[in-house]
Amino acid sequence: MINGHKLICTDENAGLLKNFMPIQATLKDSVRVKESTYKRIYIFPRIKQNFMIKEHLRKRLFKRNKAMVEYLNSMKILEKGINITPFRGVILFDGKGYLISDYDKNCIRLSESRFSRKLVEKYAVFCKDILEKGIFQYDFNPTNVLVDNAEKLYLCDFEHIKFQRPSLGKICWVLARLSRYNGVLDHYKLIFLRKFFGDIDKNELKVRLDRILKLRKKWV
Ligand SMILES: Nc1ncnc2c1ncn2[C@@H]1O[C@H](COP(=O)(O)OP(=O)(O)OP(=O)(O)O)[C@@H](O)[C@H]1O
Ligand SMILES: [Mg+2]
Repeated sequence: MINGHKLICTDENAGLLKNFMPIQATLKDSVRVKESTYKRIYIFPRIKQNFMIKEHLRKRLFKRNKAMVEYLNSMKILEKGINITPFRGVILFDGKGYLISDYDKNCIRLSESRFSRKLVEKYAVFCKDILEKGIFQYDFNPTNVLVDNAEKLYLCDFEHIKFQRPSLGKICWVLARLSRYNGVLDHYKLIFLRKFFGDIDKNELKVRLDRILKLRKKWV
């Protein structure tokens, strides 16, 4: 506990989190890139180190602050060998939670990147790996995946995660949601599915595709 701030962090980032004290003063140097009733996202263009702070504003009765939830989820995901945006730690203060991560200027959202066959296949392998490792992100979509200059993918946003190996039905549900996503051409969606399901029988592929399309209709 420092100046009323509860710090949750590992040894190597303890110093780093202390640099952020007091949090309100630090936020003065920031630029707000997102604001809603529940959260704000800040970056710090004027300071040398590139940080990003996600502030979760809502007090939740008998429940952990979302920033803490995200941090704990991110640690579990990291342990499973998935590339994620690098979180440094959490500060809990005055009922709010501040999630601090390195802000990588070389990363853009996958949803804003130029898709190519290679990138779509990488995305399919990434998605498959995540699901096979029992990470079920409810809002898995290309806005929550970052891509760097070398086309390496990173998962971000860990508010709604369930650690459970999803059934084929749930997998189809995720794929149907992705399929609803308008930023990607149908041609690439097919490449994605082929890579995702790998070498399966043509009939079985058709069964799965029908299942996805049926789910997709429900969403529209
Ligand atoms: N470490 C990072 N480096 C660079 N950009 C990042 C990093 N972490 C997150 N972002 C960017 O910030 C955006 C918002 O982060 P996040 O998804 O965690 O919050 P969100 O509240 O779900 O916002 P949104 O609804 O816009 O997705 C991400 O989509 C991504 O573009
Ligand atoms: Mg998000």
